[in-house]
Amino acid sequence: MKRITTILLCIAVGLAVLGVPAAVGAVTGKLEIVHWWTAGGEGEALDAIAALFESLYPEVELIGASVAGGAGTVAKGVLQTRILAGNPPDSFQVHAGMEVRGHILAGVLEPITDLLDPAVFPKAVLDLCGYEGEVYCVPINVHRPNTLWVNKEIVDELGIAIPTLSDFDVFVAACEKAKAAGYVPLALGEAWTVNHLFGSVLLGALGPDGYRGLWDGSVPFTDPGVTLALERMKTLVGYANVDHAALSWDAAAQMLVDGKAVFNIMGDWAEGYFKAKGWEPGVDFVWASAPGTRGSFILCIDAFGVPKDAANKEAARAWVKTIASIEAQDIFNPVKGSVPSRSGADKSLYDVYLIWSMNDFATSELVPSLAHGGVLEALAGDIGDIINIFVTKPDVAGAQGSLNRAAIDAGL
Ligand code: BGC
Repeated sequence: MKRITTILLCIAVGLAVLGVPAAVGAVTGKLEIVHWWTAGGEGEALDAIAALFESLYPEVELIGASVAGGAGTVAKGVLQTRILAGNPPDSFQVHAGMEVRGHILAGVLEPITDLLDPAVFPKAVLDLCGYEGEVYCVPINVHRPNTLWVNKEIVDELGIAIPTLSDFDVFVAACEKAKAAGYVPLALGEAWTVNHLFGSVLLGALGPDGYRGLWDGSVPFTDPGVTLALERMKTLVGYANVDHAALSWDAAAQMLVDGKAVFNIMGDWAEGYFKAKGWEPGVDFVWASAPGTRGSFILCIDAFGVPKDAANKEAARAWVKTIASIEAQDIFNPVKGSVPSRSGADKSLYDVYLIWSMNDFATSELVPSLAHGGVLEALAGDIGDIINIFVTKPDVAGAQGSLNRAAIDAGL
């Protein structure tokens, strides 16, 4: 314990030198936060930011209430039950966009506009965190879901060129090559990762404007781009591991580390995972935009807010205020595999992939995430069900009809 106290003291002194705002007044008590960061990379990133928070607020006991299950598939249900019972945690992980909007409209969160400086956050990000001029959650990062991960040793061995892998047909040819050599071409995981993949495939088939249109009703799901997306989905799943429904996202990523699979299309929390497993970006693994999506950046933003019914609001406010600081974001994101949601980053702390992602974020078309709270939640759930049935029984016309009905049911 003494050693931990000394480390915390050193961090606090270091931060004071760096100019991190000192904790004002004594904040005390327990701070319970619900999150789903339990896999490699995620856990380490959370530990890093928790150490910073504890150094700033030594009298607060931070309790990380983790609920395993990628993309928050399980955590969201647990959270909803607690909210309905009037017993929310003091703060919780939530995606900026339609997911947090649901909590705002339901009156779960309180405005925290006074806790951040709007000038340092891009408008595109802050707009997803608020409603009617108020901010309701603080974004800790920006993840890039439409990323293709590549086992470098295998593609070198097979003579597959990386720069053109973002072209769908080139990618399919590479999968053929990988299959012929006895590898699993595309590592895939459980149900939500199938929906995640479909998000990238829709974007690739429709382009950013068409893809955006799906979510505001200006492009119907009867569009030929959706037909193309379903056909592409069928092709891609044909290259995936047959046991995918039983694998978590990190177990699928591990197939690359184990040299069993060549590619994985996953958000860049996989980058954090690979690094936690000792892989080096650019050396052991490389990346490209998911096939068809070059020039677009799907937004997946983790954020935290303060519930109106939080037991320890003062500590919750201290928590979100901390994660709004660049020092916190520079501690968290290099480990998590994400980039800061605000300006002021010390770029020397970010690896070659993360610098690539930062540049891509600054220059690409930003579009919402299907599987990570960016679009209407009910519709995203229905699409997840439809696409998971589709991958076991690939009936393109049938699935497209179901997608269209789901969109109409969602009011689009
Ligand atoms: C979250 C990430 C998390 C990933 C896997 C996403 O929905 O935004 O922070 O690492 O799910 O669980």
